[in-house]
Amino acid sequence: MKPTAAIYLDNAATTRLDPEVLDAMLPLMTEQFGNPSSIHSHGRAVRTAVEKARKTVAMLLNTSPAEIFFTSGGTEADNTAIRSSIETYGLTHAITSPVEHHAVLHTLEHLAKQGIIQLSMVSLDQKGHVDLAHLEELLQQNQQAGAGPTRSLVSLMHGNNEIGNMLDLNRVGELCRSYDAIFHSDTVQTMGHFQHNLQQLPVDFIVGAGHKFHGPKGVGFLYVNADRVKINPFVYGGAQERNMRGGTENVYGIVGLAKALEIAYRDMDEHRQHITSLKSRMIERLRAQMPDVQFNGDSAHVDTSLYTVLNVSLPASDISDMLLFSLDIARISASGGSACSSGSSIGSHVLAALPGLDANRGYVRFSFGKYNTADEIDYAVDTLVGLYTKEAKLV
Ligand SMILES: Cc1ncc(COP(=O)(O)O)c(C=O)c1O
Repeated sequence: MKPTAAIYLDNAATTRLDPEVLDAMLPLMTEQFGNPSSIHSHGRAVRTAVEKARKTVAMLLNTSPAEIFFTSGGTEADNTAIRSSIETYGLTHAITSPVEHHAVLHTLEHLAKQGIIQLSMVSLDQKGHVDLAHLEELLQQNQQAGAGPTRSLVSLMHGNNEIGNMLDLNRVGELCRSYDAIFHSDTVQTMGHFQHNLQQLPVDFIVGAGHKFHGPKGVGFLYVNADRVKINPFVYGGAQERNMRGGTENVYGIVGLAKALEIAYRDMDEHRQHITSLKSRMIERLRAQMPDVQFNGDSAHVDTSLYTVLNVSLPASDISDMLLFSLDIARISASGGSACSSGSSIGSHVLAALPGLDANRGYVRFSFGKYNTADEIDYAVDTLVGLYTKEAKLV
């Protein structure tokens, strides 16, 4: 039977706001309305709230508040790290991978098109993991090239939003350090779901977006490793964010983000266990009922992948193109896309980058969150099985 309310299995796209977060934000939307740059009491009260939020984020990530800069989200934080480090250090070479989020990929491609950088793409293995030997080769080649600065920018994501692959930040960070490269990692999908201890992680920039961990949309942050990098501002204007990002701060967003991260850290083990059990349940039930089901990337390995993401590959069928639409009709919100091998702009560039992927199969990404239940997983599995069984009968 169709559920009365649509089931949300698209938590990698965004998450539902936690009511505790809303409670923390409300005073900043009502009585605490001052501009944090104003020196009077109304302004000072809000400045205090913003700085408290910065301290909370810094404390959770085990770093200093001076290294946390609030932004409008993950995209702006990624853009700032990439564009400002290239500009500040006059870098002429960057390395990334074809499965990065467009916030990284389109930014670097634009800079390459303008002739500002030469962009190298690191190879991937069959499962879409970064080939670390090739990464080292690219770092080496740039140092040997001799012309221009020998420092590269490396931008590689921590957890892939479509196929759930995880990068070993320690190994890549150490490798980057041994070649004096600047290392930015897009940690949007892992922030709030994994611990990031910045006293130990060999990274120069990482980022977060509030709405991926039950915080508000339109707010994020950039961590800048102050011992290693000093960058020019990305947004020029007022002196906000210690002259790094002009513009009146999204104060309720910032307060909400900090609260959401605090809750995420507080409840991380419990949520991880719950979400992992939902993902395992979906994998097991799909395997039992659809012998030809496959899973892309690392996503079926619950212990080594992003536990919130499962990328399902379904047998080639006439309904492949209509899969998300059919799920939507059945009141299931999920996302995904085809492998876009025909150059279609609506396909997934991540799936298209996986070697040997069959473009005729159906693909759907389910992504799980703390509010999902086992009943919802069962309904989604039954629906998928029903769609494919119906199709088989018609053929
Ligand atoms: C891996 C990754 N990076 C960056 C972003 C962009 O974040 P935002 O939507 O906050 O700009 C997203 C959002 O989907 C993401 O999944």
